[in-house]
Amino acid sequence: MTEIATSSPQPRRVAESQSEMTELVLPNDTNPLGHLLGGRLMLFIDLVAAMAAYRHARAHVVTASMEHIDFIAPVHVGDLVILKASVNRAFKTSMEVGVKAWVENAIAGSRHHIASAYLTFVAIDANGRRVPVPPLTLEGPEEARRFEDAGRRRERREQEKERKRQNRVALEATV
Ligand SMILES: CC(C)(COP(=O)(O)OP(=O)(O)OC[C@H]1O[C@@H](n2cnc3c(N)ncnc32)[C@H](O)[C@@H]1OP(=O)(O)O)[C@@H](O)C(=O)NCCC(=O)NCCS
Repeated sequence: MTEIATSSPQPRRVAESQSEMTELVLPNDTNPLGHLLGGRLMLFIDLVAAMAAYRHARAHVVTASMEHIDFIAPVHVGDLVILKASVNRAFKTSMEVGVKAWVENAIAGSRHHIASAYLTFVAIDANGRRVPVPPLTLEGPEEARRFEDAGRRRERREQEKERKRQNRVALEATV
């Protein structure tokens, strides 16, 4: 467990840290069929989410986890990938950020949803000590829903962490 630095951050609105990124898919981002690599999309997701977390915390942030991602549709060379990130909930030193990604074909003028993900970032100072993050000021029912859902996901993550801990203890007892 890392040490926590103390401070009392002021609440911030979701809109203050919302972040958007657009990437043009180039041959170096793709497999031999010209489809965007899943790992490259995960990098874009991590980056745009980190921007939102960094803006919200106004501190350095590290990625603690990235949850399950489904790649819904292929993305091709020449497509534009548009990503939007919002802080869903701030906890003590961590924040959950939601990211939604779309592919846009500028020539056809079409846009489709291709992936969504939830990531957790932890705020740290220059010495690597965890720092408290500002609470979120919620505006509107959509932000309230995302906040509640983020709380349920955190509960699930903690249950899963405890289940894995118990499995490790049980395994060690059998050795
Ligand atoms: C993330 C990290 C700072 C957590 O530090 P720690 O001291 O082990 O964490 P703790 O168990 O005390 O938890 C600290 C906070 O992180 C959260 N957290 C820790 N692991 C988490 C995980 N896997 N998923 C989501 N949240 C997590 C905790 O819920 C807690 O949040 P809170 O302060 O808001 O209540 C530490 O594990 C780390 O530095 N990891 C590497 C980060 C990194 O390099 N990322 C890039 C990967 S290449």
